[in-house]
Amino acid sequence: MHQDTVALDPETEELVILDQTRLPGQTVFLRLSTAEAIYQAIYTLQVRGAPAIGVAAAIGIYAVCRRMPDTDYETFAAEFERIRAYLVSARPTAVNLAWALEQMAQVVREHTGCPVPAIKDRLRERALELRDQDIQVCRAIGEYGLTLIQNGDGILTHCNAGQLATVRYGTALAPIHVGREQGMQFRVFTDETRPLLQGARLSAYELFADGVDTTLICDNMASSVMRRGWVQAVFVGCDRVAANGDTANKIGTSGVAILAKHYGIPFYVCAPMSTIDLSCPDGTAIRIEERPGAEVTDMWYKEPMAPEGVKVYNPAFDVTDADLITAFVTERGIIRPPFAPALKRLFARTED
Ligand code: MRU
Repeated sequence: MHQDTVALDPETEELVILDQTRLPGQTVFLRLSTAEAIYQAIYTLQVRGAPAIGVAAAIGIYAVCRRMPDTDYETFAAEFERIRAYLVSARPTAVNLAWALEQMAQVVREHTGCPVPAIKDRLRERALELRDQDIQVCRAIGEYGLTLIQNGDGILTHCNAGQLATVRYGTALAPIHVGREQGMQFRVFTDETRPLLQGARLSAYELFADGVDTTLICDNMASSVMRRGWVQAVFVGCDRVAANGDTANKIGTSGVAILAKHYGIPFYVCAPMSTIDLSCPDGTAIRIEERPGAEVTDMWYKEPMAPEGVKVYNPAFDVTDADLITAFVTERGIIRPPFAPALKRLFARTED
């Protein structure tokens, strides 16, 4: 894949995203510049994956601000805050969305009373810094993650935490992409990931495009491939890591972690520091997004596949207990248990 998943068009100053709801069949790029369109794109998963929605929101809020009139500072700041709060509400679990928009809000606060055109320029710079940072962070995660696996290993992944979920490389799939650059080959099993099929539609697509030996399995087949000895490591991404290491990721992840523990397979969570939320003490404090039941009953079928009116529970994420996680792979290195002090030390290092 040669084009970034999220970008700023420097000529039109629009947010450009690869529409992930059209994959794998069609490659369609969308150009967005209104708060409503950006909210919809995030809510409907046209752009999805924690880092990608963070960068999209940062570039997006800049694109919206660029089109706002050059009023006085107070009017501009109030409108910025209204749009920030609106965009944050699009998806509650992935902390990167709130984190990236907070980075942008800091720019506005740091320029209290300054001329609005100058603030718009600085917002542009900050959004592009966040994009570049995402690329560097994912590259580093890929390099650290690669030290955990050997050429030829079988790797199981859940959902899509690849390039499509970030700007480039991905998190959980970054070690595989970086390994491919070095001529390595892996045998990757990708869970299809009910109900929105990020594994089937997105991970299989991007791994295939990178020439990776890819096998798609239904979510309920993971134990079967593990039992056969085909999986040497599990790599997943995350949407929010609590201070004790409990980790929210795509629904189904905690089940994979339980299976991995049963079969003695290391379970690695690839976590940019922007996804670690030390203000959240443990997994019980993570708000889990619930989505419409029609995603389960109707979305991929010609006709509804469940009786009309049946109750549906459709949480988009679950929490994997910290004690099921072998290690976190971050841009600053590999973090092993006990996670609470290790995560604290990781952030202390950043502040040095
Ligand atoms: O609902 P989605 O597709 O946005 O969920 C994505 C995931 O759960 C990913 O694993 C996570 O965001 C990490 S992406 C690097």
